Amino acid sequence: QNTSLWGGRFTGGPAPELVALSDSTHFDWRLAAVDIAGSKAHARALHTAGHLSEAEYEAMIAGLDQLAADVDSGEAVPQASDEDVHTALERLLIERIGPELGGKLRAGRSRNDQIATLIRLYLRQQSELLREQVTGLIGALIDQAEGAGEAIMPGCTHLQHAQPVLLAHQLLAHAWPLVRDLERLSQWEERAKLCPYGAGALAGSSLGLDPRQVAADLGFTDSEPNSIDATAARDVVAEFSFICAMIGINLSRLAEEIIIWNTKEFSFITLHDAYSTGSSIMPQKKNPDIAELARGKAGRLIGNHTGLLATLKALPLAYNRDLQEDKEGVFDAVDQLTTLLPAFTGMVVTLTFNTDRMAELAPRGFALATDIAEWLVCKAVPFRVAHDVAGECVKLCEAQDKELWKLSDDELASISEHLDPSVRDVLSAEGSVASRSGYGGTAPKRVAEQLTELKKRLH
Ligand code: ARG
Repeated sequence: QNTSLWGGRFTGGPAPELVALSDSTHFDWRLAAVDIAGSKAHARALHTAGHLSEAEYEAMIAGLDQLAADVDSGEAVPQASDEDVHTALERLLIERIGPELGGKLRAGRSRNDQIATLIRLYLRQQSELLREQVTGLIGALIDQAEGAGEAIMPGCTHLQHAQPVLLAHQLLAHAWPLVRDLERLSQWEERAKLCPYGAGALAGSSLGLDPRQVAADLGFTDSEPNSIDATAARDVVAEFSFICAMIGINLSRLAEEIIIWNTKEFSFITLHDAYSTGSSIMPQKKNPDIAELARGKAGRLIGNHTGLLATLKALPLAYNRDLQEDKEGVFDAVDQLTTLLPAFTGMVVTLTFNTDRMAELAPRGFALATDIAEWLVCKAVPFRVAHDVAGECVKLCEAQDKELWKLSDDELASISEHLDPSVRDVLSAEGSVASRSGYGGTAPKRVAEQLTELKKRLH
């Protein structure tokens, strides 16, 4: 018996090579639950429009509920001859309610409007899971920042000592991009709340079905206003895959710092044994594999995203089979991120910081040179001159292999008449950090304020 959705005008079945190329059940079966939800809403639209009697409608819903339960339990599974999830589900429904009734469900819909709807329903669920997981990671960063108190570390630009900063400030600098990712997901969810169901193949339906009723039943805010766009557009998928890539990129930037901080040379952090790995040959090794996998997966997520953009480029309207390629990349992005995030969060939660080491290095590498220049500005010296004077201090110290606070009174005076010994008051990491007290700065009171603001943004 032919269970295909389109046999009528063909003589004989498709070539096996075509079937091998075309089949998507191995990756779109994960949409089965949302497909059945869509079918229930569609059945109601058919009933409302008079295409299913009351008895037929009830039997249809009962059959679909049974099917959903069987899919859930693993009792209902696709078979090799099913072209895609839609084909498989129609076969499985007919097995349960018979061909007479089962054959009525498909009226007025196409796999084109179906799949465009299902990917939104599925990604909306995944978006919620991602928001939960990203929020967990932000929470871990907040806890670490609170635990760090007023600990100071070297702040870097170009990976060179720049100015001392609070460790908490640095950690929160990794939290804010993730907060923006959460906002991106919420805003994406708003855009993903229009429903393509009812657009049919591309032109809408002649059967008097109400797309807006279907949309409401499926938890969308409204139906798509243009049936061609509804079936042809995938920017909603592309945008979601961008957000996945951006989350991956944001994780990778923290991952890179963790990898560097964990080196013997830096020795800023210790990774928990449960969140590090060993070597099969070198018994001493303890490697930051979670951070490295995060870095690696960011590349993969970018690949998934650019692959989809390339698929969409110059694709004529409306539906083309190319659009089937939207799924595996974004499914992979979701799978990778939802596996990575819990491990990454565990690594962050269990990190310990060697704050003595950080504090010792924080003022080194002439990281307080800006403090000298700004001290001079407060004495009415033009910044151009102040910058030069501080630079001279660095040059002298570099030649003598010593730090700025080791300059003698005479040496200070010899560099500039404006430099008196009281400049040493600003030559400490604590003083430097405390002085950066404008909004958003690294002064402890500002960082405390920032923590409060960040927590508010999460609620
Ligand atoms: N499996 C397809 C997809 O993922 C949907 C089926 C549409 N097929 C068709 N011949 N119009 O996009």
